[in-house]
Amino acid sequence: MRLYLVLLGPPGAGKGTQAHRLCEAFGLLRVATGDLLRRIAQETHPLAGRVRAVLEAGRLVDDATVLEVVSDYLDRAAGACAGVVLDGYPRNLVQAEQLEAYLARRGETQRLWCVLLDLSEAVAVRRLAGRRVCPRCDRVYRVDRIPPDGRCEVCGTPLVQRADDTEAVIRKRFQVYREQTEPLVRYYEARGRLVRLDADQPEDRIFECLAGYVRPWLTQPAGG
Ligand code: AP5
Repeated sequence: MRLYLVLLGPPGAGKGTQAHRLCEAFGLLRVATGDLLRRIAQETHPLAGRVRAVLEAGRLVDDATVLEVVSDYLDRAAGACAGVVLDGYPRNLVQAEQLEAYLARRGETQRLWCVLLDLSEAVAVRRLAGRRVCPRCDRVYRVDRIPPDGRCEVCGTPLVQRADDTEAVIRKRFQVYREQTEPLVRYYEARGRLVRLDADQPEDRIFECLAGYVRPWLTQPAGG
């Protein structure tokens, strides 16, 4: 049975950064709905235009589309992996209930944990203004730490700024987070499945804390 680790937190909290590190360290699969939806928005996909407009506005893509995207990806990619890091999913109560139903069908409800990476809006806006990403492998960089040639150190692709990393859209994403996603903190807390982490700490420190949680979660017996 797999571990399902939900990384919850506002835009810029470091979900993507830490998800990449955890997947490398523990051989987990990263399922990042933001990345999957950005791919759809760029393709000649029937939903491309509609998804692109929602992303550019900083709103949430509809739950039915997101469920289809996540379950397709899990069916294709998860295989026999020991765990899945859910980066940016679920994002509201409907999605949390859909995930719970999916896990119940697999008998894996007790295999889900949620870590809240908590960050203030002011720090998040500053971080996101200085973010660059690889459009090919989705690696995340800080503008003050990008390689001198401006290319991804993993795959060599030129780094770009995300279209939704403008101050106006970041503020909208934050508002959506407060209204629709933050209620999940109580949802997972009530189920005894939530751990809180202050995300305004050095990346390495946050990773050490996360790794300290993930190790026992990966080996806990079913129902534990
Ligand atoms: P998504 O791509 O998930 O964006 P987000 O949640 O807004 O989060 P970000 O990717 O902006 O931030 P992050 O927490 O991953 O931070 P990062 O590690 O990059 O979603 C985008 C859009 O897709 C949504 O607005 C919505 O439209 C749609 N969508 C996605 N999922 C959906 C769903 N489930 N349902 C419906 N719609 C959905 O770090 C940020 C920066 O800070 C980087 O530069 C990084 O290097 C730096 N940094 C990281 N950690 C630290 C640290 N500890 N100290 C200093 N700098 C740091």
